[in-house]
Amino acid sequence: MAERFVLVTGSSGGFGRAISTELARKGRNVILHYNRSASEAKMLEQEIRNIGVEVELLPADLSLPDGPEKLSQEIIHKGMRLSGIVNNAGIGRPGNAANINDDDWDAVSNVNLRAPVLLVRKLLPAIEKPSSVVNIASAAGIRVGVSSIAYEATKAGLIHVTKSMAITLAPDIRVNAVAPGYVKTNMTRSRLSDEKVLNGILSRTPLKRLGNPEDIAKLVFFLLSEDSSFITGETIVIDGGITLT
Ligand SMILES: NC(=O)c1ccc[n+]([C@@H]2O[C@H](COP(=O)([O-])OP(=O)(O)OC[C@H]3O[C@@H](n4cnc5c(N)ncnc54)[C@H](OP(=O)(O)O)[C@@H]3O)[C@@H](O)[C@H]2O)c1
Repeated sequence: MAERFVLVTGSSGGFGRAISTELARKGRNVILHYNRSASEAKMLEQEIRNIGVEVELLPADLSLPDGPEKLSQEIIHKGMRLSGIVNNAGIGRPGNAANINDDDWDAVSNVNLRAPVLLVRKLLPAIEKPSSVVNIASAAGIRVGVSSIAYEATKAGLIHVTKSMAITLAPDIRVNAVAPGYVKTNMTRSRLSDEKVLNGILSRTPLKRLGNPEDIAKLVFFLLSEDSSFITGETIVIDGGITLT
């Protein structure tokens, strides 16, 4: 039987690196996807190879209409079999209902919502049974904000499609989401480096700290593993409690 892999989109970023490393340490082969950060992805590829599992590195721009098709065709043509997919690649753009720019809306929608749905659909022939899909949503998809309408709407949409996919793809494929709060990565670094913003967030967070990528990676691993075999269609909020306050 061909070796099974877990595809992690956006593995070149903060969460993607932590999730891919956690998977490799637990013995899973991984397909590392990246877009622009080729050198970070190549470094991660070497680190994961050194852990002793199989690793494949594939680029794709998921903001483009043919991005999901290109990535999935490459996996299918290589004959790779999947035991899981982590739809982690994501972007944010500022803009509210009165000033959101057309191109920003399209890019955020394509990467955060269109790509996760189309990737899973196009990869169905490569997915072994049983398998598990984990969508990286956001606490911003649960509480309504106004400054990043595209980001919030796509993350709310991802929570909704997680439920829809879970029903359609059961019983062979489980589909769950995680909704993280604030974690310092390239996406959030400049905002969280502002002491006033950071203190405001910490004061509203019952557990009095930011998350770290490893917190997210452990939860994603649980949802990919057999230990969560009776969970599907769920979104687990992982935010130190800030969504409660
Ligand atoms: N950090 C947080 O506080 C937080 C909270 C809640 C949810 N999230 C979600 O967690 C996920 C990972 O975010 P992160 O914090 O790890 O951010 P990050 O470090 O900025 O990583 C983002 C990843 O997405 C990839 N990506 C960006 N544009 C892409 C495109 N056009 N096509 C394909 N891939 C693209 C990037 O690839 P390249 O760098 O190779 O271009 C990178 O690997 C995202 O879905 C984000 O919305 C983050």
